[in-house]
Amino acid sequence: MQHLRGQVEETIGAIRQSWAGEPTWGIVLGSGLGRLAEEIDTEAEFAYADLPHFPRSTAAGHASRLVCGQLAGVSVVAMQGRFHLYEGWSAEQASFPVRVMHALGARSLLLSNAAGGLNPQYEVGDVMVIEDQINLMFRNPLIGVNDDELGPRFPDMSAPYCPQLIDKALATARANDFLCHRGVYVGMLGPTYETRAEYRMLRAIGGDAAGMSTVPEAIAAAHAGMRVAAFSAITNACSPDMLGETTHEEVVQAADSAAEKLSTIVKALLTAN
Ligand code: HPA
Repeated sequence: MQHLRGQVEETIGAIRQSWAGEPTWGIVLGSGLGRLAEEIDTEAEFAYADLPHFPRSTAAGHASRLVCGQLAGVSVVAMQGRFHLYEGWSAEQASFPVRVMHALGARSLLLSNAAGGLNPQYEVGDVMVIEDQINLMFRNPLIGVNDDELGPRFPDMSAPYCPQLIDKALATARANDFLCHRGVYVGMLGPTYETRAEYRMLRAIGGDAAGMSTVPEAIAAAHAGMRVAAFSAITNACSPDMLGETTHEEVVQAADSAAEKLSTIVKALLTAN
């Protein structure tokens, strides 16, 4: 991990050539949720391909841009498209942009993803604020020699998602008359969706939603001491005993229907203290 700081500095150098902003928030937009980036008053944007050490997103439904500017009057740096372990990136590479956001000045991080609903009360198009996670990726971005300048060797994970931000998200949903669940996200390696037996197991171990991202980024953010809020757009119902086929197209389309609710919550969180 010792090489990380040098890489982050080189990436920052490239960004600083055209953006001097001090972001308060980093935002990672997942499958089907990238349109939120269009609401940003853009001050600078970068194709991932133009940023040294940045991986490149290969997933459909993901643009590949870092967008810097103002959202709801708050300075943000947002990823339109993220990096997944199933694309072949290591957990350290997948969470590299979080390090960059932190080095730019962001101390709060908002993550979003598309996920399958394990909780039988969840419906397609619902939104869930993540209150905790289970890492079934069996990968961790902090493997290797620890860089104490970046964070502790053994980071606490008793509350990786900020309880105050969770409360604020739920209050915002109530105030705007829509449902927002609070639940446990299970991070899977992918790229296959799960079998019935796997969905049954994920529910039995305490999962409410399953997806293929977010966990490495949340771990890197916890290591860096960032305040994290994360949301799942529920894109498919993972009912083991009446499971239909799941396709990526369906997932992206369903994420779209959750995007508006998410946008309302995101803007409320950005302006909360
Ligand atoms: N499983 C894992 N990842 C997902 C799912 C799912 O059912 N839906 C969207 N992303």
